[in-house]
Amino acid sequence: MALRKIVTVGDPVLNKVCRPVTKFDDRLAMLIDDMIETMHEANGVGLAGPQVGVLRRVVVVDTGDEDLELVNPEIVETGKEMQTGLEGCLSVPGKYGIVTRPNYVVVRAQDRNGDWYEYEGEELIARAFCHELAHLDGQLYTEVAERMLTPEELEQLEHGAEDTE
Ligand code: NI
Repeated sequence: MALRKIVTVGDPVLNKVCRPVTKFDDRLAMLIDDMIETMHEANGVGLAGPQVGVLRRVVVVDTGDEDLELVNPEIVETGKEMQTGLEGCLSVPGKYGIVTRPNYVVVRAQDRNGDWYEYEGEELIARAFCHELAHLDGQLYTEVAERMLTPEELEQLEHGAEDTE
């Protein structure tokens, strides 16, 4: 496994629509393992292909209990209840915004072997699923944020350990 470089805002790779994964080979397994390692190293909740410069529909999410690998993921169910809260992104370092997302989503995705699974996510995990899947369509949370935190609010956050997706 190896750490990959995280692409940051300004790089056009973050605004592109990713292609589906069609080959479930060793190269994909290595990409997923590298993405999981990179996500952990950066203390992120999730990471998407374009964030490591790969325009393929691959996402990893750390639920706290396990690392999920989501290949060709789609949201197949969305709860009616919404959540409004703080969101950050490893590709937008040093910034946070307020974003409204569904409080519950179900994601259907393949694993590295091509087998299909469904994952339920609530609260932070639902937020991470929405945030990471949007990366695959070239969308950053800053485009859907109600507002970004002010420098004063960021300063207040500095001593708290906020998760970054
Ligand atoms: Ni992100």
